[in-house]
Amino acid sequence: MKGSSGELRNLFAGALEDHVRSVALARFDASGSRLASRLRGLYGHCREFDGWLGDLLQGIAGCVNLRPDELRDLDEQRPADWFMSSDMLAYSAYVDRFASGLKGVVEKIPYLCELGVGYLHLLPFHRARAGESDGGFAVSDYEETDPTLGTTGDLELLTAHLRSAGISLCADFVLNHTADDHRWAVAARSGDRLRREFYHVLEDRAEVERYEESLGEVFPQTAPGNFTRVGELDAWVWTTFYPYQWDLNWSNPDVFAAMALTLLRNANRGIEVFRLDSVPFLWKRIGTRCVNQPEVHEILRALRTIVALAAPSVLLKAEAIVAADELPAYFGTAADDGRECHLAYHNVLMAASWAALALQRGDIVAEVVRKAPAVPNPGAWLNYVRCHDDIGWGVLAAGATSRMSVDLDRVSRFFCGDEPGSYARGRAFQTEPAHRVHGTCGMTSALAGLESATVAGDRQQLELAIRRLLLLYGVALCIPGIPLIYMGDEVALGNSTLTDPSPEQTRDSRWLHRPRMDWQWAAARHDPVSPQGRVFAGLQRMITVRRETPALAPSSPIDVVPAARPELLAMRRGGTMVCVFNFSEGAIEGGPELDVGGWKDVLTGRIVGKPWSIGPLEMRWLVPR
Ligand code: GLC
Repeated sequence: MKGSSGELRNLFAGALEDHVRSVALARFDASGSRLASRLRGLYGHCREFDGWLGDLLQGIAGCVNLRPDELRDLDEQRPADWFMSSDMLAYSAYVDRFASGLKGVVEKIPYLCELGVGYLHLLPFHRARAGESDGGFAVSDYEETDPTLGTTGDLELLTAHLRSAGISLCADFVLNHTADDHRWAVAARSGDRLRREFYHVLEDRAEVERYEESLGEVFPQTAPGNFTRVGELDAWVWTTFYPYQWDLNWSNPDVFAAMALTLLRNANRGIEVFRLDSVPFLWKRIGTRCVNQPEVHEILRALRTIVALAAPSVLLKAEAIVAADELPAYFGTAADDGRECHLAYHNVLMAASWAALALQRGDIVAEVVRKAPAVPNPGAWLNYVRCHDDIGWGVLAAGATSRMSVDLDRVSRFFCGDEPGSYARGRAFQTEPAHRVHGTCGMTSALAGLESATVAGDRQQLELAIRRLLLLYGVALCIPGIPLIYMGDEVALGNSTLTDPSPEQTRDSRWLHRPRMDWQWAAARHDPVSPQGRVFAGLQRMITVRRETPALAPSSPIDVVPAARPELLAMRRGGTMVCVFNFSEGAIEGGPELDVGGWKDVLTGRIVGKPWSIGPLEMRWLVPR
């Protein structure tokens, strides 16, 4: 019968080469029929569905055939939870800011090894749109590297070098939109009907307005609205982000097939982790915010199954900057193999940590940790302090900290240096009075007060700034999952000081925290009295302790320990170890509810007193003796 599972299996088998057939067919037998039924659910109503599915399976088989031996070995050898190890540490950087192109990154591998990095996220390096490109997030060709960064050969060489150093490369897969100069968009503009259907092209202004009624805005200042009028199409194109980023129409099965096969071809170049950019926006439904729609999750489940079929050592990471109650769904469920992403940014924890710092209230983080559900195993949060985007405050507005009142307006002003007593040197992101608490930009060190303390020559403030930076990273390193360092934070690199900013860099304040790595500044990382040396050594110490402490393993359990003082955050890991963080600038005497007097602090090797106390902005990682 056409489209029956037997026929699909035969089609798939027929397209496989002998050297891969038995392994690939075993995988197909485990998940092929589930994949078919998921895709039938999404696209079964479309014309020629059976033929489309057959073509897709043959395309997948083609990618299986071409998978290089070395990567096929990884597929066979890696256990499903290979990334859940205590020495997994992530690092994120722009290629051109970290090094001189993809080849230059090879030269920086020893530096990454010195930190203990096992996972390197390089921000978009595929061919980007000419001119403005949202930092490379407007991709014009997913199969080619950007010529300013290197060739596809350089990429393959880099992935090989990284692999032999034990580092997995993570790349952005910008699947919500293409650049307006991608060949599909160009074809659509020149009248190609099929390519026009790759995008959301609306001819009726009234329909645009109906959608807009319930949509939010990601860039309310620099790109208001969600649609862009395109003269050549005589219509409006859906552009959630910048007008030159055209949202793909994932309700079109040809978009799904094209993107799924693109992902596999990139996996065959040695990319081991895909950061699924802006994934909540993939499906549109009138009358909704057009985020987190059920079909988004169905698409993710289908992509996960395809990866399991053709490149099972590869990981998917959700870039889902959504509210706490919407975020866990991106991991999917273990039941009926409903898995989605292996990894997801713990963005709510990140924003909560910054709010806690501004308000000197560890209880804000405690509340988020208490509410975060367990992640299906294998699966992990990516715990970070900063990334290339703003700190979005909106995720805290919707319930994450509902039991307590968090003045986000104040927090947002604080990090722009606009509150009395603020030490921070950040800038608002896309904020106008109506969007007071949209986001904040700035490097960790500048937000933590290093810049203001240095300018003022205030040694005491400098000490506190270093402690703040380490405190936030301490939280990220203590929470179950994989910790991520944003380039430069390991040496307390400051905000970008562009002498000749482009119009894009002037308009979009996220460029404030996208500086070039200052390798001269970083060279002082072994000087124990310099700020960069203090930060580097502090981080290295925590990374080492985490690696050597089973209680801090990515999947070891966590629970919040009630602390009498709201300034404190206390978490128990692995049933025994207790990590205490003091978010206040004053010393605190420990109360009897946290009975850790006489325990050993594994960060310093010292025994804490009885009764115990904790200094301003200090942390203790304690084990009973
Ligand atoms: C993601 C990226 C961000 C970009 C947006 C649009 O959120 O992290 O930098 O602007 O997607 O691609």
